[in-house]
Amino acid sequence: MTSDTRPRTDFDPLDQLNRFDDFPRYDDIRAAGGIAWSDAHGGFWAVAGHDLVKDIASDDRRFGSGAGVRIPPNGTPATFALEYDRPRHTAHRRILTDAVGPRATPNLDAQVRAHARRLLDTSTDGRLDLGADYAFHLSLDVVFDLIGAPHELKAEAETLAEALFLYRTPMPDGSDPAVRLQQILDEMIASRVENPRDDWLTQVAVHPCLSTTEAQGAIVALLVGGHHSTARATACLLARVVSEPDLQARLRAEPERIPDAVEETVRLHTPLRWFARTALEDVEVGGTPVRAGERLLLLYAGANRDPQRFPGADVFDLDRPRSRDHLAFGWGIHRCVGMPLAQLEIRVALEELFARTTDLTLTGEVTWTSSTEPRHIPTRLA
Ligand code: HEM
Repeated sequence: MTSDTRPRTDFDPLDQLNRFDDFPRYDDIRAAGGIAWSDAHGGFWAVAGHDLVKDIASDDRRFGSGAGVRIPPNGTPATFALEYDRPRHTAHRRILTDAVGPRATPNLDAQVRAHARRLLDTSTDGRLDLGADYAFHLSLDVVFDLIGAPHELKAEAETLAEALFLYRTPMPDGSDPAVRLQQILDEMIASRVENPRDDWLTQVAVHPCLSTTEAQGAIVALLVGGHHSTARATACLLARVVSEPDLQARLRAEPERIPDAVEETVRLHTPLRWFARTALEDVEVGGTPVRAGERLLLLYAGANRDPQRFPGADVFDLDRPRSRDHLAFGWGIHRCVGMPLAQLEIRVALEELFARTTDLTLTGEVTWTSSTEPRHIPTRLA
């Protein structure tokens, strides 16, 4: 096949329309065979078919992450674990599992519940914004605890992470977010080198096999990976439960189905839409030749709406068979290291809300800042 006959798409990850209206684009790519070439940002293959995306994510021998997983790159150093291939990835992954894996914090459930309860206590006159003041605080509180990071830096760290990794904007005062983030990371590491404690931050700060840059990268990976993704997923579930009385009644009556509601929410909304790979050799993807060195953008959000895998894919269906086949947490060696933690946080957020209410109703419009982020969910808690 010559380059002229390649299936094509004009999909551009920076197109602001994608924030609210990306799903029809994935339908087009699937209709073209699941993979199509885009000329944007130097050119890449956009992949939206569920099985194709899963196959590529599973095959780290032929599709690497080491050349970066962002298109276009955002100019920050390679993200710890996420943008490394084996064998370095394996060592990185172990360090992250020490912070967020099941053995890291035996009483994690209780810890997350305590944060949720404290946040629910901040409601005034039985009203609370379940987006900004609950879901978005909860995941940040939890990740700061796990890292062992000083809580007074929370608000600033969040603004910096948003500016650098999500929206790629300068700080409100025009300063360079990368410079300030670097200072904060330097302070965090130095504080533990000088005064070691029994926490993960100390382990990383004094780790014999990690350079200072790597230690900082590990912190950033958890801060950036662990906060918005989980906050968005939590907010998506809460917005739905508050807006759909039948679903709310059913989940109150059958709380054992809350984990299924969590999975269906992350499938449908896919908080992190896409990650890239680079072909390490000439390969075929769905019958399309891909040359070594070409990049592929794995559209996890598109894969999760593939009707071949999920009939009626655009609808929230609590009883969907095989709903856990979704790719919202990725697949293969880079599959989200924080997945069990995220599943726990989202479930506990709803359980704790149910535990102190009999009815939740919206008191205004839900404000969506993207189709995956209901930032404000003004709610009456009765
Ligand atoms: C609903 C919440 C979350 C979603 C949807 C999500 C999604 C993802 C996805 C799709 C990947 C794979 C990236 C790829 O294929 O290149 C990933 C990896 C990762 N996630 Fe999450 N994530 C969530 C929560 C978390 C949490 C709570 C943490 C940590 C506190 C975290 C930290 C990471 C890290 C460090 C990686 C890189 C793992 C590796 O490369 O081995 N994530 N996540």
